[in-house]
Amino acid sequence: GTDGHRHFMHKEIAEQPDAVRRVLKGRLDERFQTVRLGGLEMDAREMREFRRVKILGCGSAYYAGQAGAQFIEELARIPADAEPASEFRYRNPVIEKDTLYVAVSQSGETYDTLVAVQELKRKGGRVIGLVNAVGSSIARECDGGVYLHAGPEVAVASTKALTNMMVGFALLGLHLGRIRDVSPADGRRLLQALTALPEQIETILADEEQLAAVAKTLAQAPSLFFVGRTRGFPVAREGAQKFKEISYRHAEAYQTSELKHGPLALVGPDLPTVAIVPDDELLDRNLGALQEITARSGPLVVVTHDGVDLGVTSAHVVAVPKSEPELDPLLLTIPLQLLAYHAALLLGHDVDKPRNLAKSVTVE
Ligand code: BG6
Repeated sequence: GTDGHRHFMHKEIAEQPDAVRRVLKGRLDERFQTVRLGGLEMDAREMREFRRVKILGCGSAYYAGQAGAQFIEELARIPADAEPASEFRYRNPVIEKDTLYVAVSQSGETYDTLVAVQELKRKGGRVIGLVNAVGSSIARECDGGVYLHAGPEVAVASTKALTNMMVGFALLGLHLGRIRDVSPADGRRLLQALTALPEQIETILADEEQLAAVAKTLAQAPSLFFVGRTRGFPVAREGAQKFKEISYRHAEAYQTSELKHGPLALVGPDLPTVAIVPDDELLDRNLGALQEITARSGPLVVVTHDGVDLGVTSAHVVAVPKSEPELDPLLLTIPLQLLAYHAALLLGHDVDKPRNLAKSVTVE
């Protein structure tokens, strides 16, 4: 049941601090400032051979993969990218033996992801799984993997599984990094940041009332933009996905830097923008984009970090606690779940079972 929550989605959002504790449990190695991922079934020598990482998943799992690819590339300095599994398997991809392929899936049963894994194996690729459902088809097909331990997820819109996917990629990235050039000091910094996540998520969830009020300002708009840059971009994509899945409003994600190359033409009083503005090296540039939006009377919701001075007074500000920069996508995603949830609730939709969608698509 929903444990006293009105919907499974709400229950699963609330479970995130515990879900994150579970995916971290037993995996943090304080002695060597790294992580232990026994399920990979590959030793350090094998893991050092990889020169590229390719992540495959569908829907929210693909967006988690985008955040994961950035994390891995930034930290381990291995070129990494994510691609929808549904496309990969149809385009006769070149399979390289020094590429680590990673399949990411909550259910472990998504047909497109499963067939991508089978195609990879058929061509001799090494593929690991970041999977939530233990013993699922994808988990069984992979050469090894990292179980996400989010627990069962019922709502179609993924929340706790998605968060744990991002944590799973952080663990994988830290592991790949520490057998390369990431220093023990950086390892310690990230271990501490990972350990702090559950309480930081609790802090964000405690602001639900404010998020519900902000959702009210968005729910009536026929169309919205979600924008972010670099680490903020997968957050924007996932935010837009969640919003359209359950509110049935048109929501589109762009890189903030691309606004001026096209989409700005649509910005005005009827088109709100949800901007992801981390306290990072792109802050000033992001603030410039906010000015462009307010200058055109575009309503703004800004998801940012505690203590950031935005310089725009008309925006609704949602601030999350600061983490280490590499982990920014994790906490910035959480408020967007509650924005989508409360918008869908206000619009009277079936939050847990949105029209036209299934929790896991096990057919072609
Ligand atoms: C979709 C679901 O079809 O499958 C999404 O509607 C989900 O919510 C996607 O993100 C991928 O599912 P999984 O189980 O492979 O993570």
